[in-house]
Amino acid sequence: MRDSYSRPLKDLRISVTDRCNFRCTYCMPYDEYVWIDKHEILTFEEIARLASLFVGLGADKIRLTGGEPLLRRGLDKLITRLARLEGLKDLCLTTNGALLAEHASALAAAGLKRINVSLDTLDPEKFKRIRQRGDLARVLEGIFAARAEGIHPIKLNAVVERGVNDEDILDLVEFARKHEFSMRFIEYMDVGNSNNWISEKMVSKKEIIEKIISRYPLREVGRDGSHAPSVDYEFVDGKGEIGVIASVTEPFCSSCTRARLTADGKLVTCLFAESGFDLKALVRSGASDDEIRAQVATIWSARTDRYSDLRWDSVRSGRYQARDHKKIEMITLGG
Ligand SMILES: C[S@@+](CC[C@H](N)C(=O)[O-])C[C@H]1O[C@@H](n2cnc3c(N)ncnc32)[C@H](O)[C@@H]1O
Ligand code: SF4
Repeated sequence: MRDSYSRPLKDLRISVTDRCNFRCTYCMPYDEYVWIDKHEILTFEEIARLASLFVGLGADKIRLTGGEPLLRRGLDKLITRLARLEGLKDLCLTTNGALLAEHASALAAAGLKRINVSLDTLDPEKFKRIRQRGDLARVLEGIFAARAEGIHPIKLNAVVERGVNDEDILDLVEFARKHEFSMRFIEYMDVGNSNNWISEKMVSKKEIIEKIISRYPLREVGRDGSHAPSVDYEFVDGKGEIGVIASVTEPFCSSCTRARLTADGKLVTCLFAESGFDLKALVRSGASDDEIRAQVATIWSARTDRYSDLRWDSVRSGRYQARDHKKIEMITLGG
């Protein structure tokens, strides 16, 4: 199954909730967001069914996200079901880490092998300014608890915003090297409609790499497989690796194989989409597996999304205005 630019559907990102216990400034509106009604949230039964249909259509990787996925009660039960899906090669979770210490053991027992934890700074005060809730110490505790449970690899994700945490890059690298975690830096993106993104706040991959190389020489490894969003580098001294997700300055639309399922069952074919297709309505209308698969195939075949490619052309020519583009909020969509 290929879209109109010949891209297969390989990855499914499932948002299990739009609720979050943090309020990260780069991600979500502080108080203007209308939460999805709980009756509209897909049940685990519905998620597991849809996930198995997507795997049948070629997806071999599933990432659970949110909102904060660990706020969804009994998430380990969903993981147990997904981990058994035949044909699924990779199951991952992206979390802010706040509840990881208490859930790490159940997640590992359910079959979760690897995890991504957001960690933008190691400075507790700055952490509070960026994330507006929660506590850095608790997140760090969660990361080490996950490691103690054998979850591997643990990737730490930092969104880099100029004037906010660009001075923290080397500290984060040092922390990751010291404790043998894998650090991923993410260019600040204009997700949603309310983070007041302007290109000046974005720190480019080039700048991030230059800063790291000034202390730790790197060798480029490239993307893991042809579809991964991160460009990876290894330290020349052999002490681990880092990656940068440069969705703004090095858009990877041409190799984007990701479909997204929102917590209320909308199928969305691009992180910057304005709307999605209501798969939940189809599921709840009693549609058969064949009907659902056919609908997904029709949507995917017609897919023409290449938002980041177009944005970069527009940013470079100085014409890009994030607020002119209405998008689904990141907290609804999952990252
Ligand atoms: C929406 S969060 C959901 C999962 C979980 N709550 C967390 O924070 O990891 C998923 C990912 O999106 C990233 N993200 C959110 N807003 C972003 C932005 N404006 N630019 C780049 N990445 C962003 C977060 O850093 C996180 O790695
Ligand atoms: S990045 Fe994650 S933790 Fe932060 S507000 Fe968004 S969903 Fe919540």
